[in-house]
Amino acid sequence: MADATTSRLTWLGHAAVRIETSEGKVIYIDPWLKDNPACPESEKKGRKMDAILLTHAHLDHLGDTVELARQHQPQVICNHEISVWLESQGVENVVGMNKGGTVEVAGCRATMVSADHSCGLQDGDRIVYGGEASGFVLTLPDGFRVYHAGDTNVFGDMALIGELYRPDLAFLPIGGHYTMSPVEAAHALKLLRTRRVVPIHFGTFPILSGTPAELRERVAGLDVEVIEMERGGSWGGGG
Ligand code: NI
Ligand code: MN
Repeated sequence: MADATTSRLTWLGHAAVRIETSEGKVIYIDPWLKDNPACPESEKKGRKMDAILLTHAHLDHLGDTVELARQHQPQVICNHEISVWLESQGVENVVGMNKGGTVEVAGCRATMVSADHSCGLQDGDRIVYGGEASGFVLTLPDGFRVYHAGDTNVFGDMALIGELYRPDLAFLPIGGHYTMSPVEAAHALKLLRTRRVVPIHFGTFPILSGTPAELRERVAGLDVEVIEMERGGSWGGGG
């Protein structure tokens, strides 16, 4: 297990995360920025980026992908069904994949892993099939491994994610209602055996009522550090 990384991890509010690697590459995960009430004003436009990873197609995750892709031409990594839809919207450099697959992206390795959630894609006023929701384990250039769970309930095979990929840090949803609350997230950390967690997907709307304080109580007794980031705040980056 690694205790630090030379890459910088930034939480942009809700489920949006930016990773600036030690090699100067920029990866956004679930870039819902412009209309995200939890995204800091200075981050709403997005910066030059090399890659976007999408956990699923719900609008609070797909977010600004189409516009950002047109503007910055990043590689866009997502499930097969979302990739076909993005291409129909004129997005280029889309890499469709599925769970268990690993792709090289921006000097990192991204492995798509399971999530227990839905993935309908809103196309106008209809919902079309968007494949299945997923998470990602991202191996950074220095070997540090970040797990972004996407939206999910806890599920037993999180133990497999822990055994196979040994994440050093996990971004886990804790808001409840659409995802895990702190009760389930604490159990997820037991299954994953990950010792560092950044709570996300809470507080954006009143219904996402789980709190980092509650997670902290629930993991008392586990060897887990709850990293409470500010929205727009960062962790890692060396120096
Ligand atoms: Ni969702
Ligand atoms: Mn969501």
